[in-house]
Amino acid sequence: MMSTRKKVGVLVSGRGSNLQALLDACADPAFPAEIALVISNVPGVYALERAAKAGVPSLVIPHKGFPSRDAFDAEMDKALRAAGIEIVCLAGFMRLLSTGFAQAWRDRMINIHPALLPSFKGLHTHRRALEAGVKLHGCTVHLVTPELDDGPILVQKAVPVLASDDEDSLAARVLEQEHKAYPEALRLLAEGRVLVEGNRALIRDA
Ligand code: GAR
Repeated sequence: MMSTRKKVGVLVSGRGSNLQALLDACADPAFPAEIALVISNVPGVYALERAAKAGVPSLVIPHKGFPSRDAFDAEMDKALRAAGIEIVCLAGFMRLLSTGFAQAWRDRMINIHPALLPSFKGLHTHRRALEAGVKLHGCTVHLVTPELDDGPILVQKAVPVLASDDEDSLAARVLEQEHKAYPEALRLLAEGRVLVEGNRALIRDA
């Protein structure tokens, strides 16, 4: 029987713990997606080892070798299409994307961000959450649009901020939730249950 699992490409830049959460979810044959390609813009990162251990093909496309963001993104786009990718997951991919790439994959590309968007877009989210004194923090999986850390929200998970927290303890508590949120969001998209209306994503029942 032909597989109807959606083919996923994961873009990474680092340790790849969210990639691992997706690989683990996809290891279940009943999960509606499979990872067919991992692309890193940084050579030698641990995420590449995780892909190898799972038997998933990977590519290193070092952004430094390209004259422009558009040229780098075009190379990634070519590799994703050559592998028949249908959904792209950004998993700790620390590069801004060109408008063209974001538009080409619109509604088929998701990102995980370590904060409850629209609060704390950008970097150092845990430090900024502690400085702001918020009592709840968390993570967001959202569809990618050309604007940074913007786009319709699919899944959010919140954690309490404790008086004893420092950046590391808070990051660890959020990361645990990221590993649950990302497979959940990928499942929703792969099952075709996401309906985009303006800046909102409506989730249809299973
Ligand atoms: C994760 O916390 C992810 O949310 C964050 O980077 C970390 C990557 O960890 N992403 C961003 O900050 C994107 N702007 P991982 O490589 O272990 O998945």
